[in-house]
Amino acid sequence: MSFRIQPAAPARPNRCQLFGPGSRPAIFEKMAGSAADVINLDLEDSVAPDDKADARKNIIQAIGDIDWGTKTLSVRINGLDTPFWYRDVVDLLEQAGDRLDQIMIPKAGCAADIYAVDALVTAVERAKGRTKPISLEVIIETAAGIAHVEEIAASSPRLQAMSLGAADFAASMGMQTTGIGGTQENYYMVREGQKYWPDPWHWAQAAIVAACRTHGILPVDGPFGDFSDDDGFVAQARRSATLGMVGKWAIHPKQVTLANEVFTPSAEAVAEAKEILAAMEKAKAEGAGATVYKGRLVDIASIKQAEVVVKQAALIAGG
Ligand code: COA
Ligand code: MG
Repeated sequence: MSFRIQPAAPARPNRCQLFGPGSRPAIFEKMAGSAADVINLDLEDSVAPDDKADARKNIIQAIGDIDWGTKTLSVRINGLDTPFWYRDVVDLLEQAGDRLDQIMIPKAGCAADIYAVDALVTAVERAKGRTKPISLEVIIETAAGIAHVEEIAASSPRLQAMSLGAADFAASMGMQTTGIGGTQENYYMVREGQKYWPDPWHWAQAAIVAACRTHGILPVDGPFGDFSDDDGFVAQARRSATLGMVGKWAIHPKQVTLANEVFTPSAEAVAEAKEILAAMEKAKAEGAGATVYKGRLVDIASIKQAEVVVKQAALIAGG
């Protein structure tokens, strides 16, 4: 029980975050022309150490030169365990134009990590007189990150989104897999001689969703590495959506359409949610708190469930 009202997450579409290496400026225009709601230009693990300085320059120039439309424009900086991250923040905040919306902090391990970046961002914003505050997003992709997920979600008013990063997460946890997200061959159960494959990412996703929803942050599913496996991507994305996540990364342009489809409530789902709301209106008018819809119970909690679907559809339609 809590007398506090759960804070709303930022009201912007975040169905797909398309990534591209900062060292590959030839794809920036293609990224801008994609149907992704969020663009993540990368300075971290898709950029080799010797290319970091050039990648920063490419990104700073592209932020000003390219028409990014209405997309949320984010840059992934290097982790706080590297010598690169402070220069990423300082150069971006000193040199990039106001079109930059957000900075993504990888490998967040505790609230103090976010505090450190927030302090640096705040100082440069003040020094340069930047009027549009930069927002932050984080990746939970270490054992420490998932252990401290709630304090990280509460760490800064700048924080808007939190993603699960399956590859680094698996490595940090010592998981015996080189797969990036999705079903893992050796994570199976057996019943009457039949194998089936539960979801090894489920608990981490649920922990992220709970932390995010408690603090009004957007929970997002990270990468699915096998971009030749559309069915696997869609299955993973549907599980994430069912658990409360609002979107998923694309590490190849072909994944953008798939993510947008999964994270846009279907016309049928919206129609059914509206029917439930109408059934509950009728019940309320008749003085009842519960009624029957298509042979099943609906009650006052059903109104909140249906509103999640209707509001998400409206947000996306308006975005
Ligand atoms: N965004 C936009 N367009 C992209 C793209 C991306 N991330 N990756 C590739 N493309 C373009 C290619 O330029 C090519 O365009 P064309 O048809 O005009 O020639 C088209 O999409 C098909 O690309 P394809 O040949 O299938 O892929 P690739 O070999 O060029 O690149 C990857 C494959 C995985 C290396 C590349 O997609 C990539 O770098 N992805 C992002 C990696 C990343 O940022 N990782 C960090 C987060 S996990
Ligand atoms: Mg990572």
